[in-house]
Amino acid sequence: MIKENVRDALNAQMNREFFSSYLYLAMAGYFESVNLKGFSRWMQVQAQEEHAHGMKFYGYLVDQGARISLAAIEAPPSEWTNPLDAFEHTLGHEQKVTARIHDLMELAMSEMDHATAGFLQWFVKEQVEEEANATEIVFKMKLASVEKGAVLLYLLDHELGKRGKSA
Ligand code: FEO
Repeated sequence: MIKENVRDALNAQMNREFFSSYLYLAMAGYFESVNLKGFSRWMQVQAQEEHAHGMKFYGYLVDQGARISLAAIEAPPSEWTNPLDAFEHTLGHEQKVTARIHDLMELAMSEMDHATAGFLQWFVKEQVEEEANATEIVFKMKLASVEKGAVLLYLLDHELGKRGKSA
């Protein structure tokens, strides 16, 4: 059984994961509005992943016999200045999520809650990937706006990235 302060912190993070899902769905809608279907698809998949993250917290709380508390989900924005603005927002948001996950991990460790610390380890690793993905996209978008030929380089990079493993 987990302590009440740990339970409350896990419930709060579950809400933040569902907010992340809402935020990325809002960005998917924004990309639809500017006819960038591929970007919208990326954001829709991201929104699904965030929902799955929220459900991981739900499942863990249930496994621990802890009460689920669903709070109101904050409304996300619906407009961004341009695609780069949306992805810079994504990176900043993920950096904030990382900080919250680390806060949770510190709480679990200070409470000597080994089970919760073990559960959170997956999220610590996931946040490294989340930040790396957003950083790469922001970098490429900035490059595309200043470097001649960058778009062709992206297309070539995409093509080369499809190579399978050698036998
Ligand atoms: Fe659930 Fe994007 O971290």
